[in-house]
Amino acid sequence: AAKPRVLSGIQPTADSFHLGNYLGALRQWVSMQETHDAFYCVVDLHAITIEHEPALLRRRTKVAAAQLFAMGLDPDRATVFVQSHVPEHAELAWVLGCLTGFGEAGRMTQFKDKSSKQGTSGTSVGLFTYPILQAADILLYTPDPAEGKRPLRVPVGEDQRQHLELTRTLAQRFNHRFGETFVLPDAHIPEGAAKITDLQEPGAKMSKSASSAQGIIDVLEEPGPMRKKIMRAVTDTGSEVVYDEEKKAGVTNLLRIYSALEGTSVADLETRYAGAGYGQFKKDLAQVVLDTFTPIRERTLKLLDDEDELDRLLARGADRASEVAVRTMETVRERVGF
Ligand code: ADP
Ligand code: NA
Repeated sequence: AAKPRVLSGIQPTADSFHLGNYLGALRQWVSMQETHDAFYCVVDLHAITIEHEPALLRRRTKVAAAQLFAMGLDPDRATVFVQSHVPEHAELAWVLGCLTGFGEAGRMTQFKDKSSKQGTSGTSVGLFTYPILQAADILLYTPDPAEGKRPLRVPVGEDQRQHLELTRTLAQRFNHRFGETFVLPDAHIPEGAAKITDLQEPGAKMSKSASSAQGIIDVLEEPGPMRKKIMRAVTDTGSEVVYDEEKKAGVTNLLRIYSALEGTSVADLETRYAGAGYGQFKKDLAQVVLDTFTPIRERTLKLLDDEDELDRLLARGADRASEVAVRTMETVRERVGF
């Protein structure tokens, strides 16, 4: 039987992905290419919903794609592409936008959060319609009902649930008005995704928008600073390496990182470090982090040195994505009356 299809996207809005992106999403992307017909998209259209610098966006899109290949995404098995290379994303977003109520879009809590931080003058209409573009990203790749009704799987964190719900609503509405076209997508909880917190503010999500870079481990970080950040991670005044979310949030986060990267259970790590103290634990963890990211960094830099090869890989991804997207749009155009 054909593998179920999965679709996910990530924004090229930083100079590097970080450890949270890796353990919370990208590592699962790599493992899902074995079990799924995987479509992974660097969503540069989403990245311009906030003010941006063109040369920087172009660069970050390349760096993002290079990291994905360097992490192990195989162009023979997964379709890795850049959103703006497949114009059907924007075209379907327009059609879906015309099916979305103004009030309905206004209820998106992520928009409310982001726009309240930026104020009305700093908030673009693109930021408002962002979830509609996301719905288009997803629905373009829902298998044609004629080919079977298996839903597309979309990995979503808590913060994206409402957007997937809107996507399902819009798919249903389109089907109702214009005839069965989209199979409703399903939320997919990938196995082994870990929530990683800031090394300086245990408990707060590790995020590219953190106030200090000291709390974030970048995938492309040089080995020296990477090691230092782990050695300086905030723990507590105790000395025992034990998992306790409430009383030992810092150590718990480090245990989670260690466990995820080495594939050892937290219980086994607690046993290994019984009586050892934080220093030895952090030193070993730093080595595990370096062993993971050094080869990824080296492969990324090598790909960025050979831009023709990177462009060729992305063109191939865009061709494969287009095969599906163009077909979906042909149906949509015909049904809508174009
Ligand atoms: P950021 O929070 O740095 O802005 P994004 O929101 O762009 O990162 O997230 C990209 C992907 O990485 C999403 O799938 C998100 O769930 C995941 N992710 C981001 N930060 C973390 C984290 N600290 N722990 C686990 N997963 C994370
Ligand atoms: Na974010």
